[in-house]
Amino acid sequence: MNHVNGEIIGIRQLSKEYTTEKGEQLLAVDDITLTIPEKSFTCIVGPSGCGKSTILRIAAGLEAASSGTVHYRSNLVVKPCGEIGLVFQEYSLFPWLTVIDNVAAGPAFSGVSKSERIKDALVHLRMVNMLEFKDAYPHELSGGMRQRVAIARALANKPDVLLMDEPFGALDAHTRILLQRELLKVWQLTRKTIVLVTHSVDEAVYLADRIIVMSNRPGRIRTVLEVEMDRPRSRANLQFGQLTDSILKELEYGN
Ligand SMILES: Nc1ncnc2c1ncn2[C@@H]1O[C@H](COP(=O)(O)OP(=O)(O)OP(=O)(O)O)[C@@H](O)[C@H]1O
Ligand SMILES: [Mg+2]
Repeated sequence: MNHVNGEIIGIRQLSKEYTTEKGEQLLAVDDITLTIPEKSFTCIVGPSGCGKSTILRIAAGLEAASSGTVHYRSNLVVKPCGEIGLVFQEYSLFPWLTVIDNVAAGPAFSGVSKSERIKDALVHLRMVNMLEFKDAYPHELSGGMRQRVAIARALANKPDVLLMDEPFGALDAHTRILLQRELLKVWQLTRKTIVLVTHSVDEAVYLADRIIVMSNRPGRIRTVLEVEMDRPRSRANLQFGQLTDSILKELEYGN
């Protein structure tokens, strides 16, 4: 069966209600239905607090939905699985391990031999331009470098889908643009399915095949935009500016 245009993650009528410390009910996400096609690059943008991280956590199996479902292929997602990888804003590298051992650590848990893991870690470190620092410890790296290692580590687990929550949020503008470019290369090389949450409309327009624009909380889908510009995209391009502008206007409306 050809999955190229098929759905890899299916989100159906997903809602999430939290009980706050005060005991009040808070509807974070309301009735989200979304198809993530295999090998696509989807960006989710929306106001702070609209439930973007909540959706990713549920899709990763880290949190339960209040109602609705998430499927990975034909499987209901109820707990974390190796096929769905995660990269968060706060890179969570093991401080006591070197860069290469951090990247090789994930597959260790799944029983891959040491030599195999190291070989594979080298491939992924090269992919994110971090080979030179393979023997450094996390505290010896800049934020951008740590995030590159976090991406390499997620890839070393060979996920089918990579969920990324503001992966470049803590970086300066220049490093951010550099890493966006590198992530695109990695995506084109590995053809993983990527779902990336970002505050930056510019980042979404640069990276995505499809942009999901969310409303204010409770988060609903306002618009789904297909981005058909060729890659690599130029921010100087008129179409780039127009699309960015129209999404920003859309976000201004809120609900
Ligand atoms: N564990 C929790 N308990 C109670 N409320 C929560 C919990 N986690 C999130 N929320 C609430 O759910 C809403 C959505 O949170 P979420 O972190 O998903 O938003 P977000 O879109 O990722 O925001 P940001 O862009 O600021 O990261 C917020 O109002 C938040 O206060
Ligand atoms: Mg968030």
